[in-house]
Amino acid sequence: MRNLLAILFLLLLVPSGCIDPLIKSDFREINIYSEPHRPQYHFSPESNWMNDPNGLLFHDGRYHLFYQYYPDSTVWGPMHWGHAVSPDLTHWTHQPIALYPDSLGYIFSGSAVMDYQNTSGLGTEEMPAMVAIFTYHNMSRERLGKKDYQTQGIAFSLDQGSTWVKYKDNPVIDNPGIKDFRDPKVFWHEPTKKWILVLVAGDHAQIYQSANLIDWKFSSSFGENMGAHGGVWECPDLFSLTTQDGEQKWILSISINPGGPNGGSATQYFVGDFDGISFSTEQKEVKWLEYGRDNYAGVTYNGAPVDQRILLGWMSNWDYAQVTPTKPWRSAMTLPRKLSLVRQTDQFVLMQEPMIESAILGEKIDMNPEELIEGRTAPISQSVLQMTIDLSHEFSLTLFNDHERFDFSMDPLTAQMRIDRRNSGPNSFSDKFAPEVQTATYEPESRLTSLTVFTDQSSVELFVDNGRYVFTNQIFPNKPYDMLRIGPDNQAAKDISITPIKSIWHD
Ligand code: FRU
Repeated sequence: MRNLLAILFLLLLVPSGCIDPLIKSDFREINIYSEPHRPQYHFSPESNWMNDPNGLLFHDGRYHLFYQYYPDSTVWGPMHWGHAVSPDLTHWTHQPIALYPDSLGYIFSGSAVMDYQNTSGLGTEEMPAMVAIFTYHNMSRERLGKKDYQTQGIAFSLDQGSTWVKYKDNPVIDNPGIKDFRDPKVFWHEPTKKWILVLVAGDHAQIYQSANLIDWKFSSSFGENMGAHGGVWECPDLFSLTTQDGEQKWILSISINPGGPNGGSATQYFVGDFDGISFSTEQKEVKWLEYGRDNYAGVTYNGAPVDQRILLGWMSNWDYAQVTPTKPWRSAMTLPRKLSLVRQTDQFVLMQEPMIESAILGEKIDMNPEELIEGRTAPISQSVLQMTIDLSHEFSLTLFNDHERFDFSMDPLTAQMRIDRRNSGPNSFSDKFAPEVQTATYEPESRLTSLTVFTDQSSVELFVDNGRYVFTNQIFPNKPYDMLRIGPDNQAAKDISITPIKSIWHD
């Protein structure tokens, strides 16, 4: 209170031109990033609404994160591209808003590339342009009941993403009469020496190619009768990975809302081949990136070092994203995850390995399984919990405080994993947040498996079997969890450790 009075007093003394920075820095010291439920090592905007990650690009030692942002409210509104940069994908520095809506529409999701060879002519070879490719969403045309209100536009920056100019002849791809025509992901395809663009068009994906990022030619479409169609297709990505046996495959990932395996928004993927023109697959079954409820619209970085494929997702679900109990911001990103593709017998599986800079890891604490059967105090609210699980035994894990709990279990008889967040904290803000238990079936490869659980102030990210099965979930407990229990006995879990994680926003 005394601090606040001091700030008010100072405000009366300073000339108006100086007021903003003063309020901002002092307010930040007192408050920002210390609010209840504020993620301490996940990215979240200082204030207001965020959804999808956009324009993920590594360039010149910096990871750029652009994101769907509405700076005037904590609910969705006219979309901008917010911006942050990081040297290590863990520590983030906020940047000014990159793209503002204009007469062609709101700025919806999309991607970014470095045009090193100046194919677009928007930069020079000495000063290559960073080019953002996004969807224009024209509200007036939508209100008129037209179908063609989404088109694709580009913008470029000649100063490493600090300032942006919209291309003068936008849109670069007009709407062919398709509602939900959006979310372009662009990348350079070396074999054909072309830029490739994949976007969603209602119930399928479309692929385009271009020599210069400006003139695009339709190549092919995919997916009308493939995969899950419980909701609209959104935020596609197309990239290649090489398996442990040196087999190169292409992965097409598609976010879908609703229709996820445990309700609402989720991401499915197809493993197949891509020849620069079309994507094909022999896959019959639906594959889900994960089974939790809060990893949506995830896409991967362009230009990441040593060919790493790094995914970042929006840690929320359209089922309740706009009513979660956080203030003055809403939503965070997931931990970044390094993707790999594994062939297991006749199947391809996408694995996710969480990425975190070791500098923010505290001292590892070994735990004795015996002592955890009854439940005991543990620094479990902002940490990484690791253990080995013997799948021939029943196993359960509970993170809790005096009246709230989060449960995970694995049952060898049914081969079912279950997540229960029904009593994880208040959830009356939406009856879609925790209507039931989340489930997934596992296929044991061997008797012993790994479990890694990252907890932050309002999330639990659970990676089973080296990230073969993943559950990302938000939680909003009244009080951070401080107790840990394993069950039903001490037979399944061993090598248990907890490593506390420091805040990236505070010392
Ligand atoms: C996915 C999405 C995208 C769209 C953006 C709008 O969450 O619906 O399809 O571009 O959000 O904010």
